[in-house]
Amino acid sequence: MRIDKILSNLGYGSRKDVKKLLKDGAVKVNNVVVKDAKQHVDPEKDSMTLNGEEIQYREFIYLMMNKPPGVISATEDNRDETVIDLLGVEDLVFEPFPVGRLDKDTEGLLLITNDGQLSHRLLSPKKHVPKTYFAVIDGEVTDEDIEAFKNGVTLDDGYETKPGELVILKSGLTSDIELTITEGKFHQVKRMFQAVGKRVIYLKRLSMGPLALDETLELGEYRELTDEELDMLMMYEPK
Ligand code: URA
Repeated sequence: MRIDKILSNLGYGSRKDVKKLLKDGAVKVNNVVVKDAKQHVDPEKDSMTLNGEEIQYREFIYLMMNKPPGVISATEDNRDETVIDLLGVEDLVFEPFPVGRLDKDTEGLLLITNDGQLSHRLLSPKKHVPKTYFAVIDGEVTDEDIEAFKNGVTLDDGYETKPGELVILKSGLTSDIELTITEGKFHQVKRMFQAVGKRVIYLKRLSMGPLALDETLELGEYRELTDEELDMLMMYEPK
């Protein structure tokens, strides 16, 4: 890959900025100053430095966001702000995208990456990756609902859901629950509650496969996955 492309991909500026860095003799490849922007470099094998500092090349980026409400889980939208609009330029250069969708009003765990293979593995309907949500429900959630979700419920379009695991945290005029599902149909949690005559008034995703929301992230904040989280994701074999 061309050295100017590598450096601009890594966020060291536009191609023009990078050309200047090269011209100034700031960049070395295998300890030799490189001034030619067209020079090809193998980022896996060649060592690169900028002003004497080693440049760590990488292809993929993995971010965990605590998605705020009011923001769309997409890369672009004509009307609304997207989760990608919340990222810094140093992350945007990797052209990341959200793994799956949360509704505009849903909060919580959203993985954002440019690793298409990982995204596919986590989203494939064949893989049954469990996702756990916390929700506040308008009305009293009961043991019958637990049973109904265990057996699968019929959504408004006739679709029979796979079993969902419902845990009641608090039951009353409004109820707090956790629900784990292994599918990702459009508005699935809301429609599952609709199927038992109840309404979701707050929804937050807590986990997806082995990845749990870092509760220290404020709404709208994000961070890179830790090495441990990334290892868990990479080794994860959904059933
Ligand atoms: N289920 C929903 O209804 N909405 C979401 O955002 C995620 C799951």
